[in-house]
Amino acid sequence: MLSVTPLRSDDRPAWEELFSGYNAFYARTWPAANYDRAWQEFARDERIHALGARLDGRLVGIAHFLVHASTTSPDVCYLQDLFTAPNARGKGVARALIRAVEEWAREQGCSRLYWHTQQHNHTARRLYDQVADFRDFIVYAMPL
Ligand SMILES: CC(C)(COP(=O)(O)OP(=O)(O)OC[C@H]1O[C@@H](n2cnc3c(N)ncnc32)[C@H](O)[C@@H]1OP(=O)(O)O)[C@@H](O)C(=O)NCCC(=O)NCCS
Repeated sequence: MLSVTPLRSDDRPAWEELFSGYNAFYARTWPAANYDRAWQEFARDERIHALGARLDGRLVGIAHFLVHASTTSPDVCYLQDLFTAPNARGKGVARALIRAVEEWAREQGCSRLYWHTQQHNHTARRLYDQVADFRDFIVYAMPL
């Protein structure tokens, strides 16, 4: 059975494995302190938030998200990270996570949920094209 809930303190090892997998997908490595910081923020649940998807009790997917202001609308919700364990893919885990973040954001009064992906991430885009609109923006970043 698939369920989506907030992360629990005993999820830390499984969460870290999933978040490491997500970072490896983007060829990024972060020091342990970054994982500690993110975990503490999720526990506070004020600035950044997390949900976990469980299949038969095992944590197999994560979503990290945050709310920010908008110049033209009520606050909007940004879905920063989404990852499903490789051996649990194709079972609706990411779809359920997006739906759960959508529901959470509605409850907060957000006017929109949005996220980025890479143009060539066809697997992710097959899902995204079913649940959201492609708005044709591209992203520039300036490391500071
Ligand atoms: C993208 C990702 C999150 C999808 O997770 P998932 O749990 O497998 O996705 P779902 O099972 O919810 O997929 C839902 C739909 O997407 C499409 N889809 C997802 N994976 C697919 C695949 N490998 N092949 C074909 N279609 C796929 C299907 O249409 C599927 O719906 P359907 O089964 O009802 O037809 C997962 O592949 C992943 O973690 N990839 C690596 C990290 C990543 O790309 N994260 C997103 C970055 S923005």
